[in-house]
Amino acid sequence: MNILAIESSCDETAAAVVKDGRDVLSNIISSQIEIHKLYGGVVPEIASRKHIEKVIQVVDEALKKAELSMEEIDAIAVTYGPGLVGALLVGVAVAKSIAFANNKPLIGVHHIEGHISANYIENKELEPPFLCLVVSGGHTNLVIVKDYGEYEVLGKTRDDAAGEAFDKVARAIGLGYPGGPKIQKISEEGDKNAISFPRAKVVDNPFDFSFSGVKSSVLNYLNSCEMKGEEINKADVAASFQEAVVDVLVSHTIEGARQLDFNKIAMAGGVASNTALRAAMKNACEKRGLELFYPSPILCTDNAAMIGAAAYYDYKKGMLADLTLNAVPSLKLGQR
Ligand code: KG4
Ligand code: ZN
Repeated sequence: MNILAIESSCDETAAAVVKDGRDVLSNIISSQIEIHKLYGGVVPEIASRKHIEKVIQVVDEALKKAELSMEEIDAIAVTYGPGLVGALLVGVAVAKSIAFANNKPLIGVHHIEGHISANYIENKELEPPFLCLVVSGGHTNLVIVKDYGEYEVLGKTRDDAAGEAFDKVARAIGLGYPGGPKIQKISEEGDKNAISFPRAKVVDNPFDFSFSGVKSSVLNYLNSCEMKGEEINKADVAASFQEAVVDVLVSHTIEGARQLDFNKIAMAGGVASNTALRAAMKNACEKRGLELFYPSPILCTDNAAMIGAAAYYDYKKGMLADLTLNAVPSLKLGQR
């Protein structure tokens, strides 16, 4: 079954063709980073406008790369939430138009379900149940994947998402947007034990996260150095901050697996491409005999192949949308 998938929830205009949920025939991503960089973050209005400019081109390219015609496509899938409403609307409108014009079934996909499903693409043997850490610019969730399309959120962030914290700290030390990859790079030259930044615990749910404290602590450290006229070692700040975030992400996930008796762990979302996080999680899983899965970096950050993967399992469960499908900017995981 060939699914043409479209993703436009934030600043990536993407289209892909995925066969039977796990075989990527094409995965086209048009990134808007160069434009948003000028403003230090994603400007929603610009994102919507750029999606409109690029989306048809990206869809055409996805079909061309897959060497398939529209007749050979069996269904159209699209991210309908959560995300920026104007950005989501572009993908939803285009997907509905293609589905209507070509008389194809339509599948509305949750963006986080897409991130989780990215794991199925390169790990053909992976099947639910497993525990998945979803870490992106907008979300930090520890999710119990009970079955395809069935999720329970075990923990979530109370304030900033992990990626958001990376982006804000990167901006504070003058590294620019997007911050995650820049923090990762500069950290390679830093000492992760140079500065002790806090690891927040949320009292009433040990699986919830909070990253605003570590972010404020970095800002306070920078201010205090400035006031004392001390030179700031950016690499040490970045490495110590990254270590604090990674430490919390790994310990929560491992504790979740221990308490709920999971032996398979997966990671997803942009921050899951972080090399320090991958290494620390791998190490922790090896120590405890847990199996670890994560997608290649290109499938961690926003893409449409992950939407095609998720859509296949939704389709098999008969979860189809109709032409009333609309963008839902704060769609909850598991909500229809
Ligand atoms: O999943 P994604 O592409 O978009 C959302 O759904 O939010 O994630 C983007 C986020 C950004 O905050 C970016 O800084 C972060 O993922 N990110 C990283 C890395 N690559 C991307 N964070 C840490 N290390 C990385 N290598
Ligand atoms: Zn995402």
